[in-house]
Amino acid sequence: MQPTSANIPNHVAIIMDGNGRWAKQRGLPRIEGHRRGVETVRTIIDAARDLGIRYLTLYAFSAENWQRPPDEVSALMGLLEYFLRRETKVLVKNRVRLHVIGRSEELPAGPRKELQHAIAATRHFTDWNLVLALNYGSRTELADAARAYAAAVAAGREQLGETTWTSFSRYLYTAALPDPDLLIRTSGETRLSNFLLIQCAYAEMIFSPVLWPDFAKADLAAAVEEYQRRERRFGLTGEQLKSGVNPRAAATP
Ligand code: IPE
Ligand code: IPE
Ligand code: MG
Repeated sequence: MQPTSANIPNHVAIIMDGNGRWAKQRGLPRIEGHRRGVETVRTIIDAARDLGIRYLTLYAFSAENWQRPPDEVSALMGLLEYFLRRETKVLVKNRVRLHVIGRSEELPAGPRKELQHAIAATRHFTDWNLVLALNYGSRTELADAARAYAAAVAAGREQLGETTWTSFSRYLYTAALPDPDLLIRTSGETRLSNFLLIQCAYAEMIFSPVLWPDFAKADLAAAVEEYQRRERRFGLTGEQLKSGVNPRAAATP
């Protein structure tokens, strides 16, 4: 079944999980799963655009993933560099703007340079947005935001007594992005693993059993369709929503 074109989630965030298990099931090294996972990334970027999803965020490397075996970490960094080098012209052709969230300045020089190049080459586009979460962790993001906010208070650019979610959230990595409407995690795991904890306050969550290398356009469409069957209440009652009260107007100040 295809989702209806009305009520497409504006922002879909995906925890791409299961590459290692996909490889293990086939007796292959974990890196083969990551290689196949990169092909899925290309498919899903196109699929999201076809469905009308304007923001797609992909959790590609967590702040905790540095603790994996060094050869896996360096293979992942190599794949990131390869993906960016190959994909930048496709993003330009399709008018997709690339963003990054996470401490990308700590990435190795190779992928970091490709990333800077891709971000610069796509910065004028507005309609479609691809956000890569790289060296990302929500707790680090909050600590970084708190430090930047405190510095702004000390410099007189913010007033401590007037702190609101709106003023503080401008210091998050996601300041320029809308909150996710739909969060998908593949591979059957039902945890957030330090991903967009604050931004997903009201996101709908869908946990798919499919391993990331096998995740197809039809799986994304099915998740969107399930999203469309849900009632997002944002703290209001179902009756209020039916009578036309706008829930977003009641969101956190
Ligand atoms: C997700 O797949 C990719 C990254 C975390 C980089 P995993 O590598 O976590 O795959 P599993 O969970 O071991 O199957
Ligand atoms: C989360 O997956 C990180 C990414 C998908 C990049 P993990 O596989 O690292 O998460 P845990 O360890 O199972 O929680
Ligand atoms: Mg995993």
